[in-house]
Amino acid sequence: MLAFWRKTLLLGLAAGNVVLAEDVITDDAVFYGESPAVYPSPQGTGTGDWADAYTKAKAFVAQLSDDEKVNLTAGITADNGCSGNIQGITRLGFPGMCVSDAGNGLRGSDFVNAWSSGVHVGASWNRDLAKQRGIHMGQEYRKKGVNMILGPVVGPLGRVALGGRNWEGFAADPYLSGILVADSVKGLQSQNVATSLKHFIANEQETNRNPATNSEGHYVESVSSNIDDKTLHELYLWPFQDAVLAGTTCIMCSYNRLNNSYACQNSRALNGLLKTELGFQGYVITDWFAQHTGISSANAGLDVVMPSSSYWNGNLTTAISNGTMEASRLDDMITRLMATWYYLDQDSAFPNPGIGMPSSVNTAHEAIVATSKAAKSVLLESAIEGHVLVKNKNNALPLKSPKLVSVFGYDAYTPMSYTLESSFSFPTTDRSALYQNGTLFGGGGSGANSPAYIDSPIEALQRRAYQDGSSILWDFTSEKPFVNYVSDVCLVFINAFATEAVDREALSDTHSDTIVTNVANNCANTVVVVHNAGIRTVESWVDHTNVTAVIFGHLPGQDTGRALVDILYGDANPSGRLPYTVAKQQSDYGSLLQPSEPDEKYQYFPQSDFTEGVYIDYRAFDKDNIEPQYAFGFGLSYTSFAYSNLKISKTSASSTNYPPTAPIVPGGNPRLFDTLVKVSATVKNTGKVDGKEVAQLYVGIPNGPVRQLRGFDKVLIKSGKSASVSFNLTRRDLSTWDTSAQEWLLQRGTYQIFVGRNSRDLSLSGTLTI
Ligand SMILES: *[C@@H]1O[C@H](CO)[C@@H](O)[C@H](O)[C@H]1NC(C)=O
Ligand SMILES: *[C@@H]1O[C@H](CO)[C@@H](O)[C@H](O)[C@H]1NC(C)=O
Ligand SMILES: *[C@@H]1O[C@H](CO)[C@@H](O)[C@H](O)[C@H]1NC(C)=O
Ligand SMILES: *[C@@H]1O[C@H](CO)[C@@H](O)[C@H](O)[C@H]1NC(C)=O
Ligand SMILES: *[C@@H]1O[C@H](CO)[C@@H](O)[C@H](O)[C@H]1NC(C)=O
Ligand SMILES: *[C@@H]1O[C@H](CO)[C@@H](O)[C@H](O)[C@H]1NC(C)=O
Ligand SMILES: *[C@@H]1O[C@H](CO)[C@@H](O)[C@H](O)[C@H]1NC(C)=O
Repeated sequence: MLAFWRKTLLLGLAAGNVVLAEDVITDDAVFYGESPAVYPSPQGTGTGDWADAYTKAKAFVAQLSDDEKVNLTAGITADNGCSGNIQGITRLGFPGMCVSDAGNGLRGSDFVNAWSSGVHVGASWNRDLAKQRGIHMGQEYRKKGVNMILGPVVGPLGRVALGGRNWEGFAADPYLSGILVADSVKGLQSQNVATSLKHFIANEQETNRNPATNSEGHYVESVSSNIDDKTLHELYLWPFQDAVLAGTTCIMCSYNRLNNSYACQNSRALNGLLKTELGFQGYVITDWFAQHTGISSANAGLDVVMPSSSYWNGNLTTAISNGTMEASRLDDMITRLMATWYYLDQDSAFPNPGIGMPSSVNTAHEAIVATSKAAKSVLLESAIEGHVLVKNKNNALPLKSPKLVSVFGYDAYTPMSYTLESSFSFPTTDRSALYQNGTLFGGGGSGANSPAYIDSPIEALQRRAYQDGSSILWDFTSEKPFVNYVSDVCLVFINAFATEAVDREALSDTHSDTIVTNVANNCANTVVVVHNAGIRTVESWVDHTNVTAVIFGHLPGQDTGRALVDILYGDANPSGRLPYTVAKQQSDYGSLLQPSEPDEKYQYFPQSDFTEGVYIDYRAFDKDNIEPQYAFGFGLSYTSFAYSNLKISKTSASSTNYPPTAPIVPGGNPRLFDTLVKVSATVKNTGKVDGKEVAQLYVGIPNGPVRQLRGFDKVLIKSGKSASVSFNLTRRDLSTWDTSAQEWLLQRGTYQIFVGRNSRDLSLSGTLTI
């Protein structure tokens, strides 16, 4: 209320042209974003398939004392190797919970695998692999006694090209992210391990992600992502909705503010969007140290604080007795927490919390092997399919029995040391200099993962040379290496590092570009491999006549070398497609290149206005008619594909303007997911080798972007054969968010349907009238 008054007052003054416009704002008055208040916090009801879990959780909570209840609302610190801990209640046989980093593999552990990162899974466009990866990663968490994985990530979505954490998530597109996160959640939770989908919501930059004291000693709040309701629904909330529908048991609220209210105390986001509109039955956990108020965060819908709470504790019961909080809110907080434990059957035969986690103080921990033989093929396939071949002049690849392979660049070899200590490490500054010293298989920060081994490119290439009797020369350190004139191929390995806590400085770097150019100047067959934790621009060398092939290798995890060699030598046909747009130059990203920096006026309350609406990544390039270097969805294969026979048909499902009313289940109104239209096409493999194609469907929704991804189908097609690809368009896929009705609206009119190879190569098109 106070904020509202201030706002009105200042707006009034501004309108009267009084001095304020030039002034530095020193309180939390704002002009753009303000979230409506949504109270009270909805209680979990046990809807969907949660009834049984809620019955058990309620019976458990009924036996707790007030102090025990309060104890469950926040983590406790324990040097047991887990990122966070919920303490047990022994008298009731509840052993507590261990929760740990992160969404792309267990961090700070031994005997676990380093899986491909989110962006790599995004680049694979492979639903089944996403699920299989989830299953096997989930098994590792389970064996280590980790009750909940702190992931997967769908926020950041990738609004800011230089975002430091974009690689942790899948794609700069809500549809692709949503599909892949849903399959990941299903895979992980099939192993009884909880997922805490993060970061809710609009955590699109690392710069000013947390409040801090600036150089003049003034307190500066976190950046506020100011987003209109329509954009929030159609872009940023979308993949969260898919994950709630898929059954995610926990949601992690983020560091940033949303419309000037901290994400962990924004009642519109937590009580409104998540717990009312999406019918979420699990609990909301804070990102580490992301709680900034006491009772107001509880009333706004926050359930559990990590790593511990300095605000709640006994204050919760005081607040109940003095009437500022309902007792039912406290019960709901821990009922939601305990319901997830029962929902995933963690009450029966789940390993003791943290049993296999090494800790920095407990070096004499038990050796619990979580890797498995069964995981190996999934690790390798997942590593292979996230590689995207973007240039292949005169079929330079696959290699044809080269006699001499020359290898250059700092990214080809195994890092000089890898110890248990390294696996704990959590780089919070841009250590790209360090990473230009060994192959990059994952990014930095809490999303870094711990490998059982690292099969670097050079090791895999050496094995190949041993097998086929060829020779290798290498120079990993020179910026201008000597090139043996008789090399059949020169492989240049560079990378683009990114980490949590800082945004990237640039989309390319001079040292790496110089190595490529220097090699290409002296080698007629130069193949560049970039291990990139996000978008990497290539304009300084991609058109060099001697650069014959380019692969974006992303972050493949520990099997990076063998996966790459399978592709280079044609044992595997590349089938990855870009889950983002690569611009010709970084300035083409315009206002979406860099994170927002505090300006003079709002220097203590940094503001990031998402005024571009849904027009990020390819939606922005399409709108502004900018030719990308490589379009969203682009990727080459060793074979070729031809598309034909587009068919569009409506189903008998209701096509009323708004979805028919139905009881809300986790994910929202279930009728949003009715299939309204089916689309199919024929894809023929017209080349000489078998290969996988990712058929992509884009829809031009009236009054929206010219095209938005709304379907994809990855199919293996044998040389000369055809396959049918099919897509289901749901009501939500075809709708827009109607802010006044607060419903998804299915507009009447003509919809454009496009099917093809990528967002800029869509050979089939048709229309649909609704
Ligand atoms: C944020 O603020 C804008 C402008 O004031 C408003 O339109 C929008 O609905 C708010 N978004 C949320 C999520 O509350
Ligand atoms: C609450 O947690 C604290 C810290 O672990 C512990 O000392 C205390 O005994 C707990 N209270 C109850 C009632 O279990
Ligand atoms: C109650 O909250 C205040 C801050 O609002 C905090 O300083 C205090 O430590 C809290 N008390 C307990 C018992 O947690
Ligand atoms: C009630 O207790 C809470 C927690 O200690 C405190 O923050 C709040 O100011 C109190 N309100 C009143 C009206 O006493
Ligand atoms: C690479 O790492 C090794 C071992 O940590 C170190 O000795 C060397 O100086 C580093 N090289 C560069 C170029 O940073
Ligand atoms: C390409 O490589 C050859 C060496 O094989 C070199 O003679 C030529 O100058 C290079 N071309 C360019 C444009 O650098
Ligand atoms: C489309 O929906 C049908 C059920 O209506 C399902 O059998 C089929 O697998 C779905 N296809 C795709 C591509 O999701």
